[in-house]
Amino acid sequence: MRFDVLTLFPEMFQGYMTQSILKLALDGGLVEIRLWNIRDWATGKHKSVDDRPFGGGPGMVLMPEPVFAAVEDVQAKAEPGLLVLLTPGGERLTQTVVEDLAKQKRLLLLCGRYEGFDERIRLGLKPREVSIGDFICNGGEVPAMVVIDTVVRYVPGVLGDADSLKEESHNLPGRIEYPQYTRPREFRGMAVPDVLLSGNHPAIARWREEQSRARSK
Ligand SMILES: C[S@@+](CC[C@H](N)C(=O)[O-])C[C@H]1O[C@@H](n2cnc3c(N)ncnc32)[C@H](O)[C@@H]1O
Repeated sequence: MRFDVLTLFPEMFQGYMTQSILKLALDGGLVEIRLWNIRDWATGKHKSVDDRPFGGGPGMVLMPEPVFAAVEDVQAKAEPGLLVLLTPGGERLTQTVVEDLAKQKRLLLLCGRYEGFDERIRLGLKPREVSIGDFICNGGEVPAMVVIDTVVRYVPGVLGDADSLKEESHNLPGRIEYPQYTRPREFRGMAVPDVLLSGNHPAIARWREEQSRARSK
């Protein structure tokens, strides 16, 4: 699966891309991430990508010209992918949306900054608009990382054990995973439930199902 991230701060992704599961997926060629700096498509002496909002108000707004040029050029570099615009006004990123995004072969992730995007970017490029929650981040980079982090789990081979996907919280809508325990058997007076030490797998499965249902309530 290929991600093309369009951002004003590509360096923010360096640490994220060089660690743990994502690093292995990139090294193994299961996932590809290309980073593009929108400023490279800015024209004019100052290479501006933003300007003051018409009608007044605080902050700066991302201008349509460099964003359209960047998206159109990057799209043309491979089989067209789905353009995702990260915005607090978008549809909420749920596990169902993640699963849906993971069906794509290529995602272009458009990260905003400052006061966000000129409305014509939304109207003209017709992206899928995605929000990671009802709060405001400083930019779309962390939300884009959240999209990548959640979607790559569905790329075959990325998770060591494909069963990890099945039993996670939210795999069924509104469902929370059962409690997990590891060593030691007792810690500060808190003991691991006997059933998990019993070796009785049907009983363990029943206990986990009950716990999961109770937690989800
Ligand atoms: C400071 S925010 C702009 C917020 C915008 N003025 C508003 O009220 O909707 C800058 C950028 O961060 C990103 N962003 C912030 N919060 C986000 C969220 N919850 N989900 C997705 N993207 C977000 C978007 O790309 C946005 O354009």
